[in-house]
Amino acid sequence: MARATTHHVCSACGHESAKWHGRCPGCEEWGTLVEEAKPVAAATGVRGGGGKSSGRALAPVPLGQVEAPRVARLRTGIGELDRVLGGGLVPGSLVLLGGSPGIGKSTIVTSALGNLVARGQSALYVSGEESAAQVRLRAERLGPAALAVPIVAETDLEAVVATIEAERPDVCVVDSVQVLHAGGLTGAPGSVGQVREVAGRLMRVAKTYGIAIVLVGHVTKEGALAGPRVLEHLVDCVLSFEGERERTYRTLRALKNRFGSTNEAGVFEMRDEGLVEVEDASARFVAEATNGSPGSAILCAMEGSRPLLVEVQALVAPTELVPPRRMANGIDRNRLALVLAVLTRHAGISVGNADVFVSVAGGVRIDEPGADLAIALAIASATKGVPLGSNDRPLAAFGEIGLTGELRHVAHPDRRLAEARKFGLERVLHPGSGPATVGAALKSALAAPSAVRAA
Ligand code: TYD
Ligand code: MG
Repeated sequence: MARATTHHVCSACGHESAKWHGRCPGCEEWGTLVEEAKPVAAATGVRGGGGKSSGRALAPVPLGQVEAPRVARLRTGIGELDRVLGGGLVPGSLVLLGGSPGIGKSTIVTSALGNLVARGQSALYVSGEESAAQVRLRAERLGPAALAVPIVAETDLEAVVATIEAERPDVCVVDSVQVLHAGGLTGAPGSVGQVREVAGRLMRVAKTYGIAIVLVGHVTKEGALAGPRVLEHLVDCVLSFEGERERTYRTLRALKNRFGSTNEAGVFEMRDEGLVEVEDASARFVAEATNGSPGSAILCAMEGSRPLLVEVQALVAPTELVPPRRMANGIDRNRLALVLAVLTRHAGISVGNADVFVSVAGGVRIDEPGADLAIALAIASATKGVPLGSNDRPLAAFGEIGLTGELRHVAHPDRRLAEARKFGLERVLHPGSGPATVGAALKSALAAPSAVRAA
């Protein structure tokens, strides 16, 4: 019998087994065994030879003497994408672009490759999910530059690697990593073993030839990069494309970046002609805000290192439902639960018999504790039916709320205040502006507008 070239390894305890088991014989966890290619044993390896290695000893070099040539980054021509990448794609790097289906991953990579080709770089688009004809139809909407991108539609890893080695492009996109199939493994495409093998092979190709490779990966609704999550340690850069398919705004964040900061985020809008960068996102959101109606507050948020003004809206409606509904759009459900509990206990705002809906306008997702105060203000304003500001003097806010109802400082207050001032928001309620508790903040915000101290 031919020797098997794969084995199964438990992702929890590392137990190795020739056969697949539903439950790991080592640690008894369920569903943790993953098929992997067996490492090729070195033919001349000395085993147990008294601890003496057969390898050649290397000469360590002080870091200061290590040669690090400054490689020119490949600019994708999409300003927001380049900024999130830390200045463009680094040759020889492996980038994972994750996001839920339909968010616009294929669109952004097609535009980026089009721009690179227009600037004289060589590119290759490997489409595993869509036929070449389907990708062409998309490219037609994106303009003439995108139509110049060379494409192959293929799912066999060996064929893809052979094509990349023959073409040696500067940049290659693999859309998506979950549909490529490594012949040596029996697991279905997209399974953990397959995805790991595919990414490992492509990484070696990227490093060997200095090709920047972008792997597109789908994320499930629960947020797990099913498959791709196991790649995070392997790749140089993990980008996450977020937003809701039904809404037009999308944010692009770096979750990991070996060549830049992970604090950057870019905002895009999906239009008929593809993704358009939104550089003045604050202006857009402030202009669209419904100042002057109850339940609306402007939040000075931070999107990475960049301040962003967004509108937080709340609706509080009486209900017979037990338990009442709690809906959060663009903020974490657990944060909403916490803010509601603090409002009930420490600010006398009771919503026990009401449905509460909170949403960040425009489909932006805000994941930072600095949003608490604006959420609390919007809910209190909706409950009491009292607007937080008037059309010409809207109220903005930021700050974290502690479990005892105290207001807590958050990062970059100066940048948030500067952004608010830039857009003519003079009234900003925040932990440094006076009130020490959420109760005091509500009192001053829901009182006459002039009672709030200008920041
Ligand atoms: P797509 O890039 O295919 O998403 P993904 O690769 O992440 O699954 O595009 C997603 C959606 O964007 C699709 O529903 C159609 C829409 N779209 C536009 O609105 N305008 C455009 O110019 C393009 C190309 C797509
Ligand atoms: Mg796609």
